[in-house]
Amino acid sequence: MSLSPEVSIFDNPDALFRAAAENFAKLAHAAVLAKGSFTVALSGGSTPRGLYSLLAQQYLSSIQWQKIYFFWGDERHVPPDHPDSNYRMAYEALLSKVPTDRAKVFRVHSENSDANRAAIDYEQTLSTAFGLQKLEVPRFDLILLGLGPDGHTASLFPHSAALRERSRLVVANWVEKFNTDRITFTLPVLNHAANVHFLVSGKDKAAAVESVFDGNSEASDVPAKLVEPRHGRLVWLLNEDAAVRIPQRMAAAEVKSNQR
Ligand code: 6PG
Repeated sequence: MSLSPEVSIFDNPDALFRAAAENFAKLAHAAVLAKGSFTVALSGGSTPRGLYSLLAQQYLSSIQWQKIYFFWGDERHVPPDHPDSNYRMAYEALLSKVPTDRAKVFRVHSENSDANRAAIDYEQTLSTAFGLQKLEVPRFDLILLGLGPDGHTASLFPHSAALRERSRLVVANWVEKFNTDRITFTLPVLNHAANVHFLVSGKDKAAAVESVFDGNSEASDVPAKLVEPRHGRLVWLLNEDAAVRIPQRMAAAEVKSNQR
């Protein structure tokens, strides 16, 4: 049974990124202490850049970077040096600035012209890195996610085929509105994680956030609603702009400032 989501609302983006960085550091420390490693799937888009930069600037020595296994929850179907690449964004903001073990950084080979092949290849990467048995789903210590204005998360877009996928770990998902494929984790992977953290900022996300938390919206219209880790913690870190329409019952989450 999944735990109910924990919602924190912040009155400015710095406080949001600070909380996300503290969460990341605490989870990394606990995982490394417990099993000598920390597995994380990074999210893409623009919001997480603030978190990645803060981690690089202020957590250089307090996190055991070389013990972290880095993956991506989704990737655009572009080469790794393309301006739209989620790998490139994370590399520029974080991975090029901290002492990672390059052998533990697993990007999607999205330069492959065949997106399905790239997805199958990434499934194999997961299987090898996690030592998965057949049909086993990897359990990430942390999966970071964002939220699109249309309610998508990772590259699970409303009414797209990937929403119905229950056996594959990674698929190529055709995104009509962008007229392109994306490569994305499927819901079985997201919902098997020990921790899932949504990082959402901006007025343009307020309607999607409201739809996630209200009882009426169809889940296929708002894919982020389908993220409910069965045996894990679901955390929403929102800035006030994104939370402005959140249903009253969820507004109990007190607004936090940037306590240094
Ligand atoms: C991507 C992300 C996607 C993102 C949302 C929010 O590849 O773009 O995985 O799910 O998190 O679209 O993006 P912004 O943070 O840029 O608003």
